[in-house]
Formats: sequence, structure tokens, C-alpha cells
Amino acid sequence: MITVKKRELLAEEVRRLKSQNLQIGFVPTMGALHHGHESLINEARKSCDVVVLSVFVNPTQFNTPSDYTTYPATLDADLQCAERAGVDLFFMPDVEEMYQGELEVDAVDFGTLTHSFEGRHRQGHFDGVVAIVRKLFDAVKMDCAFFGEKDLQQLAVIKRLARDEFPGVQIIGCPLIRDTDGLALSSRNVRLSKDDRTRALKLNAWIHELKEGIEAGSSIEETLESVLTSAQQAQSLELEYLDIVNPETFEPRRSGGEKNEAFAVIAAAVNGVRLIDNCRILCS
Ligand code: PAF
Repeated sequence: MITVKKRELLAEEVRRLKSQNLQIGFVPTMGALHHGHESLINEARKSCDVVVLSVFVNPTQFNTPSDYTTYPATLDADLQCAERAGVDLFFMPDVEEMYQGELEVDAVDFGTLTHSFEGRHRQGHFDGVVAIVRKLFDAVKMDCAFFGEKDLQQLAVIKRLARDEFPGVQIIGCPLIRDTDGLALSSRNVRLSKDDRTRALKLNAWIHELKEGIEAGSSIEETLESVLTSAQQAQSLELEYLDIVNPETFEPRRSGGEKNEAFAVIAAAVNGVRLIDNCRILCS
């Protein structure tokens, strides 16, 4: 595995790979790699000749400074994990290298997609995500880029970015991976105590309650109202949102219309650790 810190060196490597007509798959991450990231690397290895992985904790996408400063940093373990998983090129720039002292980023307006749910609860979050993904895509010049469905709204935002600015890049969404107890894998899970973790499992329980109710024929409105009532009353857990949405537009999905796939989405904080989760629901 080749490790580079500078964009110029990355560009040289990318030119070398392109001159051999190799298909480049890109997995952007913020490090603290876990099985969810490994599954993205595996997908990239299946469909591309070489895999580039980046580890960069992007300051502009954090809306609370403490979330940025406490974000887990495990570079040595990440290097080992990436090497084991078969990454060919590991890009690990620092903030200066990516932003050159200019941390102001442009506002992004994709309508509801950037202004609802994550966009509403984390002001400026998608501005930072789009800014860094644009810089990384410009540097890596990949054929395909792989993102987890765990960050479902981010995936939709990046698909829209690619459609507008990187039409040659295929964006591939990969399934959310859960731990054996059902908790969606996230780099932030290391900050949960044993008790917090038990509380955090409620997120998965509520979205699956929605799935079961709706797929068994109950109306979206009634099922949502009943699960929302339990979620809002839960102790030691601060619910931010719980809803059923169209996964491309993030507009709320309600009863009626054609039978199609929607997603239950949830965000809540457990003892100061913000968690998100989602699951697919067949709605009619
Ligand atoms: O999903 C992430 O880890 C980050 O949001 C990303 C896409 C690497 C941008 O910093």
C-alpha cells in the first residue's frame, strides 16, 4: 500500500494508474475505520482495479466544535486495517493541505435535500461535506466512489453533486452494516458506554417497528404517530427526528401513491453522542 499526504504526490500516482488504463475506486472516510468501511473497500475491490482510500477528518462539516475535537483518531489502526483490506493507495492529507488556510466554504442549496433532517439539525453540515468531497473527487479522479447507506442523506447529496459536477463518476451506495446487537456501525460508537449502547439500540428498534407496521398494512401516518409518541417519551435519549422519506429527495413519504421503497430515518443523541440510523420500507 502506498501512503501519500500531499495532493501533488497523489496526482502523480493517479496519473500513473490512469496511464495503465486501470479503473480507480475511491472510498472517502474520516478514519476510525470499522467493518462498515471494510465493506466499502470490499465493494470497491470487486468492481475496480485499484482502491484509493482517504482519511481526513473534515473540520468544515462539524456544526459543534466539541464533536470535531473528540472525533476518534486512530491512524495506526486505520493504516493496518486499510492494508489488510487491500487498499492500494492511502491518502491522508492534513487540514492545511486540503484547505490552504481558507476554511470558509460555499453554501450548498439542493432544496429539501440539503435543508431537511440532517441539513436542518446540523446547520452548514452539507456545505462542508460537499466542499471536501468536491476537493477529494478533483484530486482522486476516480471512476467510482463508494459511500455507505448509513449516511443516507449524504449519499443522496453526493449523487446530486456528481450528477451536476462529476457526470463521469459512478456513485455506489453500499448497505448499512450493523453490529451483532443491531446497532448501526459508526465511528462515534466508541464514545458510548455499555448503558448508552443499550439506550442507543432503541433507534434500530423504532425504525423496525415502523417497518413492520407499515409493511403489515397499517397507514404510514398512524404508525409514525404511535412510534413517535414512544420515542419522544424515551428517557436518556434526545430524539431529533424520526420520519419516513423518499431516499432521493428526502421529502416525507405519506400514504397513497404508488407502491415503492421509502426509508425510515432517525437521529437522536445518547449522552451527548449523536447517532443516526435508517431502514428500507416497502410502502403503498
Ligand atoms: O462519510 C464520511 O465519512 C464523510 O462525511 C466524508 C464523505 C468522508 C466527507 O468528509
